Parts: sequence; C-alpha cells; structure tokens
Amino acid sequence: MTATILKAPQQASRQDPIPAAEPRHIAVHPLTGHIGAEIEGPDLRQPLDPAVVEEIRAALLKWRVVFFRDQPLTHGQHVAFASAFGQPTLGHAVYGFVEGHPQVYSVARDRLAARHTGELLVRPWTGWHTDVTAAINPPAASILRGVDIPPYGGDTLWTNLAEAYNGLSETLRGFVDTLRGVHYFSPPEGQDPTEDFIKKNTSRPLVSEHPLVRVLPENGDRVLFVSPSFLKRITGLKPRENQQLLELLFEHITRPEYTVRFRWHPGSIAFWDNRATAHLAPRDIFSLDFDRQLYRITLRGDVPVGVDGRPSTAIKGDPIEAYSPEQAH
Ligand SMILES: [Fe+2]
Repeated sequence: MTATILKAPQQASRQDPIPAAEPRHIAVHPLTGHIGAEIEGPDLRQPLDPAVVEEIRAALLKWRVVFFRDQPLTHGQHVAFASAFGQPTLGHAVYGFVEGHPQVYSVARDRLAARHTGELLVRPWTGWHTDVTAAINPPAASILRGVDIPPYGGDTLWTNLAEAYNGLSETLRGFVDTLRGVHYFSPPEGQDPTEDFIKKNTSRPLVSEHPLVRVLPENGDRVLFVSPSFLKRITGLKPRENQQLLELLFEHITRPEYTVRFRWHPGSIAFWDNRATAHLAPRDIFSLDFDRQLYRITLRGDVPVGVDGRPSTAIKGDPIEAYSPEQAH
C-alpha cells in the first residue's frame, strides 16, 4: 500500500500548475500570506464524507497546516479522523505512546516536571524541528489535539519550507538542490543526555541522510527539508562550512513571513504536512506556572526524494511502519 497520502485532487506540474477546485463542503480561511488556514464545517467526531476528506487534503497541501476549532475528540475519534488520511504509526518511534492508545503520543508540559538545569545554548532557531526526521521516512503528517491549555502562552508556530526554498536566490537554490544532510536525535545544546535519552535512543537508534531539498510527488514543489533540531551535518562540507551554511538556512526558514502562530484552545486541532513544514513550541511556556496537554498522531511517511531523484538513506534504524498491535509490546 502506498504511503503517499496527501495527494492533490488533480495532478499538476511545477511549471504548469492546475488550480485546485474551490472547496464546496468546507470553508477554508487562510491565516497568513503563505501558511496556515482554519477549516470550518466538518464535525471531526463523525466519519467524514470522502469529498470532505479530499477537500481537507487539498487545503493541507496548499496551506501546509490546517486548524480546526471546537473538536473535543476522544483518543478513539482522534485515531479515526487520522486514519481517514493515512496510516497512523505507533505514537512515537522512540519515545513511546499513551497507555491503552498505542497510536497516540502525549505532548505534555508538566509544571512540576524538572526543568532544564544549567545554561542551554539558545539560538534563534533552537527548538524548530520537523517531526522525526531522524527516520528514513519521517511522518507524512502530524495531527495534534489540544486538551488542557494554559490561559495564555504555550502557542505553536509553523513555517512553510517550500516558500522558504522559493525565497532563496536562484544561485543558492541551485547549490542546496545538490546537497544531502544527516539527521539524528540529540539532547538540547549545552545539556548532557539523560539516562532516559540514552536508553531510548540506544534501543531504537535512528540516523538518516536526507536530501536538503525534497520534491513533493503530488505537485513537484521543492521543499527546503532542513530540521534544525535534527539536521547536524551536510555531507561533504568541512566543519566550519557546515556550521555557517546550516546557520544561514536555519535562520532563513524561521523568517516571520514564512510562519504562522497558533493560539490553542481546548478542542483545537492542528494538522500539518510534515514534509513541507517545521514547527516550534516557543520557550515562554517553560517560564509559566501552567500545564499543557496535547495529544499527537503521526501518519506513516514516504522516503523523501531529492531533486536528482535520489531517495534518502538510512544510516541506522528501520523505517517507521504503520501501527500494528505487536508494536505496543
Ligand atoms: Fe514536533
């Protein structure tokens, strides 16, 4: 079964795009010039009509992240909604799942949890990432649901990596088109790995080399596939070249014009194309005395393919497969 799940309603080439039909079953309200749209209409607790699923897919492909409000889903309804768009994976390939709900991953900030000790190295792009790019086939999409939300703070930002690619000079686009880079998990900069980090990353090591520019099969869009938390090394560069080029690209993708910022409420849903975005939880939440509880489901992804047609390669670890019951043991 193919894992290409975010297919457009029509095939289109990069040179000659065919505009998608206007949605007839949902209302799509764009939030910025380049990324993010709120979708109004469907009740996500109910099975969705295939026409509604297609229109949500088209909006997701265009706006890269879509939001829904007032959708108080149970874990089971969350899984059912996600399953209309692809194959849910185990909650998290490395960091586990919610007891009794193996496709669901808890994204929690507990005000009583131990805070980081020592001084972190915080750079403008610190915390920005694309989910699980250490895997050879990072999730195609992630669907995050808000349950317990602070009265203020704790927002999430996304950035459009296709628009960021388009914003580079033609000369630099031509260069990054040829590059590949190595992605893996690491502790926050300035922190030693915790015992838990070492244990989980030893039992499920994931290291992958991806093209710096991946091409989306549905529309030929080129995406600057750089994930600041995971991408450590551009293949073939000297250390200082690597450091400076990564910093240039990381700084570029976090420019505000490529981003959208989302204010959570209980029952809010964010559904993003994980192939074409990076996201960030701003650090203000760590200074607030509030909990935040979100739940995430990720959909199985394809192996990225570069401009030259070369797919990513696994250096360590197996692909992330669709969830099956034996994975939860
Ligand atoms: Fe994430």
